[in-house]
Amino acid sequence: MSSFWHWYITIGVIVYIIAVFWLLQATRKSKTGSEGEDELMDHSYDGIQEYNNPLPRWWLQLFYITLIFSIGYLVLYPGLGSWKGTFGWTQQNQFEKEVAATDAITAPIFKKFGAMSMEELVSSQPQAIDMGKRMFINSCSVCHGSDAGGAPGFPNLTDNDWLWGGAPDTIQATITLGRTGSMPAWASTLDELSIQQLTSYVISLSGRSSNKELAEAGQPKFQMYCSGCHGADAKGAQALGAANLTDKVWLYGGSAAVISKTIREGRSGIMPAHKDLLSADQIHLVGAYVYSLSHTK
Ligand code: HEC
Ligand code: HEC
Repeated sequence: MSSFWHWYITIGVIVYIIAVFWLLQATRKSKTGSEGEDELMDHSYDGIQEYNNPLPRWWLQLFYITLIFSIGYLVLYPGLGSWKGTFGWTQQNQFEKEVAATDAITAPIFKKFGAMSMEELVSSQPQAIDMGKRMFINSCSVCHGSDAGGAPGFPNLTDNDWLWGGAPDTIQATITLGRTGSMPAWASTLDELSIQQLTSYVISLSGRSSNKELAEAGQPKFQMYCSGCHGADAKGAQALGAANLTDKVWLYGGSAAVISKTIREGRSGIMPAHKDLLSADQIHLVGAYVYSLSHTK
């Protein structure tokens, strides 16, 4: 803030307080008429006149109290330009104090739940799952959906189909460290016919009908180029986050157009690491909520 605005506000406020004080002083005393009687105002409405009386004393005193309050306030708290106030109050430290107060209340609860396994939390601690759910809504629902049902590119967390694995430790690691799926792009290695053959073969893997000839030609190519990650049986590899291609669950979509686009251009889904956003105990709770979605008690 430039010093111009500091002085503009400071002088403005001080002059204003002095002006109000002067106004109260000037109107405090009653102006008595020549015979010691209260002075009558000049106007008259249908014969009704009024005295020029000062404000009642209690009312006047209220005004003085507000003035004294305002001076005290402006000394203790920021208000006069860039003056910081003798209390050193800021929005930031007020916020930090409130956060610290909440943390003091919630930390023991997080700690207690943190010491229990996810299975235990799911089977016996509905309050913990509730807290995990609220954290999920805050931190995860933008990508995974508020019901954790996912969207194209963002996995559904309510089913028992896992890219990386659904064991408690795996879920905890996924949330803590994040994950990056790496499906390479094949457009520069394979010609369009091979991509069509592979697409037909992938479609046939989940028991759907596809062009038989193309699929048969795709099978050996799959073994050559794809089985290293997706497995010879195409059931995927959780260590790599390589999707199972034999089921009906699709991360990006199971139509021929989407599958061939995936093969041509590759995919790289990123689950961000949360270790700097949530404490280990919080991750444990939100993980327990995720675990609960596919494991009922
Ligand atoms: C280097 C390992 C690797 C190789 C090689 C690989 N993939 Fe993948 N593939 C992945 C990973 C990892 C994913 C998940 C990508 C993600 O999570 O964003 C994936 C995803 C896919 C998907 C999307 C599945 C879905 O549910 O939407 C298809 C289809 C696919 N791969 C087909 C193939 C084909 C066909 C080949 C061979 C030409 C191949 N992949 C080779 C690692 C690989
Ligand atoms: C910016 C978007 C984004 C946010 C926020 C996000 N995720 Fe993810 N998450 C993803 C993506 C994308 C993947 C899939 C990664 C891949 O393709 O391998 C994923 C994968 C996962 C997986 C692995 C699923 C599997 O099948 O193995 C879990 C578990 C998960 N997320 C939980 C969470 C939780 C819990 C939160 C909140 C603390 C969260 N995610 C926040 C995008 C997000």
